[in-house]
Amino acid sequence: MNNFSARRPVRSFVRRQGRITPSQQSALEELLPKYGIQYSAGLGLLPINLLGNPDLPLTLDIGFGDGELLASMASGNTHRNFIGIEVYTAGIGHCLKLIDQKNIRNLRLVSGDAVEVMEFGIEGASINEINLFFPDPWPKKRHRKRRIINAAFIELMSEKLMPGGLVNISTDWENYAEQIEDLFAKRKYFVKKSSLARCESTKFEKRGLSLGHEIFDFTYELLA
Ligand SMILES: C[S@@+](CC[C@H](N)C(=O)[O-])C[C@H]1O[C@@H](n2cnc3c(N)ncnc32)[C@H](O)[C@@H]1O
Repeated sequence: MNNFSARRPVRSFVRRQGRITPSQQSALEELLPKYGIQYSAGLGLLPINLLGNPDLPLTLDIGFGDGELLASMASGNTHRNFIGIEVYTAGIGHCLKLIDQKNIRNLRLVSGDAVEVMEFGIEGASINEINLFFPDPWPKKRHRKRRIINAAFIELMSEKLMPGGLVNISTDWENYAEQIEDLFAKRKYFVKKSSLARCESTKFEKRGLSLGHEIFDFTYELLA
């Protein structure tokens, strides 16, 4: 099997059910079929109805957490389509409720491992922008191999982005920020830009700030 997942020894998450409220649970059951999909690699490319109007640019948000920022970005940018990918079921349930309550039409959710979704679900050169806001930092040295941003994932993002496409990353972990800068600097097909992507804070940014962490924001553009 020549695929990225097979080359990837460990996952960037530990699947925990976590505390899920009854309303998040019912949102998952009733609203996921309406506004998203439960993805596994065998499904192949994401269904076309999930991708929205093909004339609009498409942004992926990988690991959107509770989806508050994603829902707000989608509501404020109706000229773009957004797809959020998450494994945290309570967060997916929360975001589904936001989509429904606020009648957000340009946002769809994928419940599944973003690495598999990116590899098997997304066509090459089809994405305009990828957001990775506060990816799990896996701070212990022995866990760093779990960090989602690694050489292979950067390669995968470069395959799925359109030329001129952007990767926006934020982290509050200094040594993850250093690792990200090193990895991108070695890949001459990405060029660093000034970062403008995040107009609002996220839950994990607030947590980082409360711990006294500095926030590092990066934007990289895929060269044509
Ligand atoms: C630290 S949280 C950040 C959430 C949100 N972006 C924010 O800033 O509040 C990282 C999120 O990434 C998700 N995640 C980690 N690896 C993932 C993967 N391979 N596919 C999808 N989601 C993933 C986790 O479940 C978690 O919700």
